[in-house]
Amino acid sequence: MTENQDELERFVRGLPKAELHLHIEGSLEPEQMFEFGRRNKVDMPFANVEAVRAAYEFSNLQDFLDIYYQGAAVLRTEQDFEDLAMAYFRRLQADGGLYAEIFFDPQTHTDRGLPFSVAADGLLSGMAKAATELGIGSKLIMCFLRHLDEDSAFATLKQAEPYLDRIAGVGLDSSEVGHPPSKFARLFEAAGERGLKRVAHAGEEGPPEYVWEALDLLKVDRIDHGNRALEDPRLIERLVNEQMTLTVCPLSNLKLCVVDDLARHPIPRMLELGLRATVNSDDPAYFGGYVGDNYLALARQSGVSREDLVKLAKNSFVGSFLSDGDVIRGAHAVDLYADSFS
Ligand code: HPA
Ligand code: ZN
Repeated sequence: MTENQDELERFVRGLPKAELHLHIEGSLEPEQMFEFGRRNKVDMPFANVEAVRAAYEFSNLQDFLDIYYQGAAVLRTEQDFEDLAMAYFRRLQADGGLYAEIFFDPQTHTDRGLPFSVAADGLLSGMAKAATELGIGSKLIMCFLRHLDEDSAFATLKQAEPYLDRIAGVGLDSSEVGHPPSKFARLFEAAGERGLKRVAHAGEEGPPEYVWEALDLLKVDRIDHGNRALEDPRLIERLVNEQMTLTVCPLSNLKLCVVDDLARHPIPRMLELGLRATVNSDDPAYFGGYVGDNYLALARQSGVSREDLVKLAKNSFVGSFLSDGDVIRGAHAVDLYADSFS
């Protein structure tokens, strides 16, 4: 590594940032998978950690989802979810992260017989512990699996009722193509009536039309991914005018073949167009890196400048569901840091 590269890495890892697109089940490292598997006496379909890592070759989103849902089967107790969350927050802190809005997929767990409360209480304990022990703030977003039907999603929203004061919002994830946002218009309306924020994965593999639907039918506050919005000039104009946040995930895009090379990643173009892009890790244990690694990969391979990195870090606070005061404090921390480096 050259001295310049070293300095770039120091800059990136110290840059204050928030993470807005992180599936907590996707932070399950193979080592932890074995540890939880052992303590919960779950049979593992892999001989060892190396065999697990070797299986992480994906040609599309579905390839990944199949293995990701399988991995989540080792999570059985509140302690597992608390430990999973704490391990993630420690990694976030090592990458300069101050705050995160984390997704979880309740149906992945309730469909295999765990009560809704196991994942929810475990994650909320991990979040409380991260706040007191690490000084890291966080909010929880529950995602609905779009390959399942509307009834299952409504049943999940009902199970979440006792937790709605501790859940910031709802999201929509899993297999995108064939499961357009319109399938969940009534669900998202019900979520909005309950005062929840709304986000949805759209335009990762699905067409620009799905991004329009997320905006018009789901009334989302953010778009997760949004890469394919760049195919539609009218949509770009709408997203720029509304200053809609896009939670983009470079290493995920590479691993799931949404982009073929980080040298052609759309983030530089998004920034040029005036889109409010942010950098996130999505499922870091599966895609080869946490949030800092995503910033660094962009900086090294996509021609993103220091100024762009600062803009992306500021966007992560501006695009968050933090209070106005906390957004200003986060953005100010980014400016102070950047000034101290120049
Ligand atoms: N897309 C859709 N569903 C997901 C993803 C993703 O990138 N990660 C975890 N669930
Ligand atoms: Zn995602």
